[in-house]
Amino acid sequence: MYSNSVMQVNQVAGLPLLDSNVQKSRMKYSQYSGSEKTTGAWHPPQARLQRMASQLLSIQESERKRIAKDLHDGLGQSLTLIKMALAMTARQLANGAIAEVSESLQRLNHKAHEALEEMRRVSMDLRPPMIDDLGIIATLSWLFRDLEATCPSMKVEKDFSVQESSIPGALKITLYRIIQEATSNIIKHANAGRVRVNLASSGNMLHLEVADNGSGFDSAGAAIRSSSGRGLGLLNMRERATLSGGAYALDSRPGKGTRICISWQLDRLPDVL
Ligand SMILES: Nc1ncnc2c1ncn2[C@@H]1O[C@H](COP(=O)(O)OP(=O)(O)O)[C@@H](O)[C@H]1O
Ligand SMILES: [Mg+2]
Repeated sequence: MYSNSVMQVNQVAGLPLLDSNVQKSRMKYSQYSGSEKTTGAWHPPQARLQRMASQLLSIQESERKRIAKDLHDGLGQSLTLIKMALAMTARQLANGAIAEVSESLQRLNHKAHEALEEMRRVSMDLRPPMIDDLGIIATLSWLFRDLEATCPSMKVEKDFSVQESSIPGALKITLYRIIQEATSNIIKHANAGRVRVNLASSGNMLHLEVADNGSGFDSAGAAIRSSSGRGLGLLNMRERATLSGGAYALDSRPGKGTRICISWQLDRLPDVL
């Protein structure tokens, strides 16, 4: 089913072709998962486990840093403004300036509304409550609607041929984070008219593909920059994919758009997930 969907995507004019990196990544995946006969969770060797744990911690730490900055710059600023406006309104009230009080209260109402929106945004960013309440499929549909509202010149085409119940709970937040980073990169860097997100299951495999028809970039060069500490988003996305047992491939060239493919073998997810 997935190979069909890849063929369909390849036929969509303007989107990049699936290249050999993706094929290699599937081979790499079948190398570690296919030859062994055991079933159940994948148990990585001790050294790899330690490396995975430390990578997970560093991903978490960089996220905390980003969220702390978001809270400080966004919600923190709004609450400071509200506090100052409240003090001013109290003075106006003490002076009996009722018309000014009424105006200030209206402005405060507006500011409080903005702060609430900001709080919702940070909360969605931390962990969308929707994932637990409505599921990952509904959450992704919401994310894509939000993306289209933020960037009206961009169309998101989603093709989900998977049941909510066949996606393991522990993989849902990983899927969300990866798609969130991939789509936010598209908005920030790609200037794309179209984004295509495929999520498909076939047998015990789950396949994700995010492709855009935007500006693309030199993915080999970006990997070098990432290893020197810049461009953490791509690095985190790859780490998330591989730490959760997925085979990851990114294909991008200037002018040719960007495509990210990840495949998970659902009955062989690592214990650390
Ligand atoms: N979909 C995309 N289209 C075009 N360029 C991209 C895309 N995704 C990533 N890039 C390029 O790769 C670089 C690294 O991305 P990333 O690691 O997410 O860092 P950041 O988004 O913070 O710059 C970006 O600065 C951009 O040049
Ligand atoms: Mg990024």
